[in-house]
Formats: sequence, structure tokens, C-alpha cells
Amino acid sequence: MSQSPAPTRKLSPVSRRTILFGTAAATLLASTGCIPYTRDAISTIGEVKFSNPLRIPRLADSAVDGDGVRTFDLTARAGTTEFLAGKQTPTWGFNRSYLGETLRARRGEKVRFNVRNELDETTTVHWHGMHLPAEMDGTPHQPVRPDGQWHPHWTLHQRAATLWYHPHPHGETEDHVNNGLAGMFIIDDDESDRLGLPSQYGVDDVPVIVQDRSFDDEGEFTTRYRGINGFLGDNILVNGTYAPYLDVETELVRLRILNGSSARVYNFKFDDDRRFDLIGTDGGLLEKPRRMKNIVLSPAERAEIVVRMKPGSRTILRSAPQDLGAGVLATGAGGNDRMEVLQLRARPALRRSGALPAQLVAVERLRPRSSATKREFVLDGVEINGKEMDMSRVDTVVPANNLEVWTVRNVAGQPHNFHIHDVQFQVLDVDGHAPPPELTGWKDTVFLPGKSEVRIAVPFGSYTNAHVPYMYHCHLLWHEDRGMMGQFTVVAPDEVGSAPRKLEMKEMHDHA
Ligand code: C2O
Ligand code: CU
Ligand code: CU
Repeated sequence: MSQSPAPTRKLSPVSRRTILFGTAAATLLASTGCIPYTRDAISTIGEVKFSNPLRIPRLADSAVDGDGVRTFDLTARAGTTEFLAGKQTPTWGFNRSYLGETLRARRGEKVRFNVRNELDETTTVHWHGMHLPAEMDGTPHQPVRPDGQWHPHWTLHQRAATLWYHPHPHGETEDHVNNGLAGMFIIDDDESDRLGLPSQYGVDDVPVIVQDRSFDDEGEFTTRYRGINGFLGDNILVNGTYAPYLDVETELVRLRILNGSSARVYNFKFDDDRRFDLIGTDGGLLEKPRRMKNIVLSPAERAEIVVRMKPGSRTILRSAPQDLGAGVLATGAGGNDRMEVLQLRARPALRRSGALPAQLVAVERLRPRSSATKREFVLDGVEINGKEMDMSRVDTVVPANNLEVWTVRNVAGQPHNFHIHDVQFQVLDVDGHAPPPELTGWKDTVFLPGKSEVRIAVPFGSYTNAHVPYMYHCHLLWHEDRGMMGQFTVVAPDEVGSAPRKLEMKEMHDHA
């Protein structure tokens, strides 16, 4: 790899959680362009005992009322969790001490949430990957104060998919997610039910929320090590389980993998190099299963994979080194790290699984006309198009129901990714080439290694509100917290010219 180093640039004011070391190293690196980063690659290969059964977040209870609204209670609270034997780690969670219960509902259903905040700081709950009105999106514009409540509701107008939910308080997202506020949100539909895919929750259809964490001697989380992309942990937790294994009872097991980490990009593969079938990405199932040996997921991306097991066999899901497009930055960004993730242990006798269908679902190809609206987003430092996030500024006003072409260009040497709220988009090309198999389906977050460019087709929906914005941003949580984010509103096409570019902040806080 002969990538040129990140261009010299001034880093923005250091946030209160920034440890000087990380910033100093980044600045130094940016100015000289050639220092080896200050931490060697780490490896946990062969060192993890896989001694703990994988925890499965329980499915959240819900009740359907007379109007057909499925209602969930979701309470953010503090607690403690035992990750390491005999040590209690202070953590946060939704309805549990760490992470959140899994939410599950069907396409077409109306859902409603009684969100309560029992923490002593303001948080929000964002429904990542969801198509919904901006007032329900759970961004910094819908704060839930300590002891406060929030009751968002909407109708699920999207296909079966593995989404997730997490806080989005401006400048605090990394902290809240690292403490444990994150959960899975599974949408089902008739089309996916008919496929006979492994679908017994926690048995052959298993949530796999992957996070890196570091512990101090007392067993408390520490985010001491910060590379240029933010916090990188030394250990992997899956669903909040340290050194996890999963007992597999069926020939096929479906893993719904979510990169719930702050900054770590994983290159998932198995220790025996076995192939697996990729069946779904962020926003739904693929057209057909794609045979793969590895898949890269940057923070917030999801992949549904199906693994075939032989009776009595074992295999280990790992993260292998990868090219972050960062050249000299690869180590500081974790690109050279090797991590054990999850051991799969097949029982001596396995229940038969139905065959994986050769075709999954129809994925309608978005084909923007040449006259489609085109926009460009340049990622550099922690800015998008040379700007940092301003909650009162609307960066982009989008006409409702518009199919647009967005070009996202990472001009820096370090990796970023790009997430858009409210939509599921399709990748048109990557550095001018046709997208690889893992980018042929619906996506809401796309990885951009250093010096790379993607073009995406973005089908905006019909929910309009000129006063409440959605966001697009880098989903490396520290970058996002430092302002690598912009805001867009969706408005009726004839209101694009008159829609406000400046928002009255006070007014917006009352929308919830
Ligand atoms: Cu998952 Cu704006 O975020
Ligand atoms: Cu989101
Ligand atoms: Cu970034």
C-alpha cells in the first residue's frame, strides 16, 4: 500500500474526554506524515479461553392495544454487570444492566415506545436504519432528560432487517454507547418468513453484537487508549459476554452481526477459513446468498450470515488484519489487530436445517436518471464539506420522494464511514468500480477506507418536516461526537427554496 499520509490539518478543540496522548500523536502524525503510530498491533489469538456461554439479550415484551399499536417500555438505567469473573463493572443498559433487550416487530405494524431515562444525564434513543418521521428519530433534537419520558411512534414501512437502537446525544454518543446503551431491533415480514431461513431466536438465529472494551484492575471500563479514530479496546465482548462460545444445535446457524463498537473496523472470518453465506446487510436480505470467506464491518454496519456446522465441530469467528486504506495509520486505527470474537461449538448430534434457498428476496435496483439531484460530501479531519456539526444549521434540504445520487469522498488517509438517517440506500460504485457482493443490498452505513470514494443512490421518503432535521455523519463515534456530522431536512418539493436553514433550537426541543 502506498497511500499518502493524511493532509496536514488543524485538529479541532479537544473534547473533555480526549486524552492528550491520542491527539498529540494524531497531530504529530498529521504534521510529519511518517511516524509509526504509538501502539503496536494487538492480538488475542490463542489467548481467549471461550469459557462463557454467549448471552442472548431477551426479546422485549410488548403489548398490542385496541388500535393495533405495539407498545414497548424502554428504560435507560445504570447498573453493574459481571463480565470478568468476580468483578462488577458499572454499566448502562436498556431494561437490563448492559446493552438493550431485543426489539422485534413486523412490517406494517404501528409501534410505540415508552422511553424513560433513569440516568442522571440527558440521553436520546435513535432508531438506526429506520424510516420514520424526523420528530421520532431520537437525535439530539429529541432529548430525554433525567427522569424524563418520550413516546415516539410510527408505522414500520420497511422490509425485514436487522436494525439497532442507541443514544445520540450530541458530543456524548461514544460515552453512552460505550457504557452499554445499544440494542438490536429486528423487523420481520411475510416475504422473509416464507424463505425458511434459520429463525429461532437465540438458537439458530442469533444476535451477535460485537464491541471492543478495555478493563482496569477493578474491572471498570477504561477508554484510555485512543487512536486517531477514537477508542480501541483490547478485548472483545459479544452481547456483553467476555470470551464467549455458542452451543450450536442445528446444521445451519444464522448470525446477525452488528458492529456496535466505537471505532474498531472488523474483518470477520473463521479460523479454519471456512466459507459462509452472506444473506443480508444493513437494511434487509440480499437477492441471493453470497459465498464469502470474510466480511468487513465498520461501526454500525450489520451483516446476516449463515454458517454450516458439522456435528461435534468447532470454529472460531475472528477479526483479521485488514487494509484500512490508511497506510501508516493502520496500526493506530486497529487495522493490524487480530482478535478472537466468538467460538461456535456444534453438539455431537445436530438438528437438520432446511436448505438455504438459492434466491432470497427481490431487491429493486435503484436507477437514478442522469438528471437526478447530485450532492457531494467530502470527509476530512472531523469535518464534512469543511464544516463541523451545528445543531441549529440545516446543511441540506431534500425534496420528499426524491431519488438522489450522493458522492461521498474520504480525502483523508484515515478511515471513516458514512451513515444517513431515515433511508436505506444502494451503492452504485466504489472508487469507480461495481460494488462487491456485500454492498449489493440495502445499506444505511458505508465504510470509506482512507482515500476512497463511493457513489450511492438515496431514495428519500415522504415524511416531511422543515423544522426538525435528520443527520448524516461518520459513525465512528468519536468523530461523530467531535462534529463530523451534518443535518438535512426533507420537505415538500415546492418548499425547498423557502425551508429554513437556521433552526430555532428552543422550539425544536418541545416537539417530542
Ligand atoms: Cu446510528 Cu446517527 O446513528
Ligand atoms: Cu442512524
Ligand atoms: Cu470518521
